[in-house]
Amino acid sequence: MEPIAETIERLGAIVPDYPKPGVVFRDLTPVFADGPAFRGVVDALLAEYEGRFDYVAGVEARGFLLAAAAAYAADKGVITIRKPGKLPRRVFSESFSMEYSENTLEVHQDDIPAGSRVLILDDVLATGGTLGATARLIEKAGAVVAGFGVVLELKDLGGRAALAGYPVHALVAY
Ligand code: ADE
Repeated sequence: MEPIAETIERLGAIVPDYPKPGVVFRDLTPVFADGPAFRGVVDALLAEYEGRFDYVAGVEARGFLLAAAAAYAADKGVITIRKPGKLPRRVFSESFSMEYSENTLEVHQDDIPAGSRVLILDDVLATGGTLGATARLIEKAGAVVAGFGVVLELKDLGGRAALAGYPVHALVAY
């Protein structure tokens, strides 16, 4: 069987100058659109953390795809990390800067039982801003970050250093 990193490289699309000039955008939607590839990605992310998490958190929007599939496969609950104003009850909020903008993420204050171990999934690790803010949200809720799983790491953007002290597993790194 083809190693998952090779599948991601074969199917992933490279889009120059998106969303602005100078950015080389790595589009993973063709990987997600391929059944065996999507299953292989989710299985590979789960395998790294098997037995070491109680919940899977996904970051809106593309992280939801991975987190929902992984939580279902692992028989765990899924936690939604959302953009501001989307969650109806009391939230914790964290702000951060991304490669191209400033943003905030939120989680419901009571969605995660204190002390539980949360695996955080997203499609891409870039600057680490999004995932760092997610870790702070999990910890504000009194839970523990089990680690991060991403399909793609963009090494030049320094995300791994921004997440120093946490386990980070990337299926492909450029
Ligand atoms: N997220 C942030 N930077 C990105 C890039 N260059 N390609 C895909 N996703 C990204």
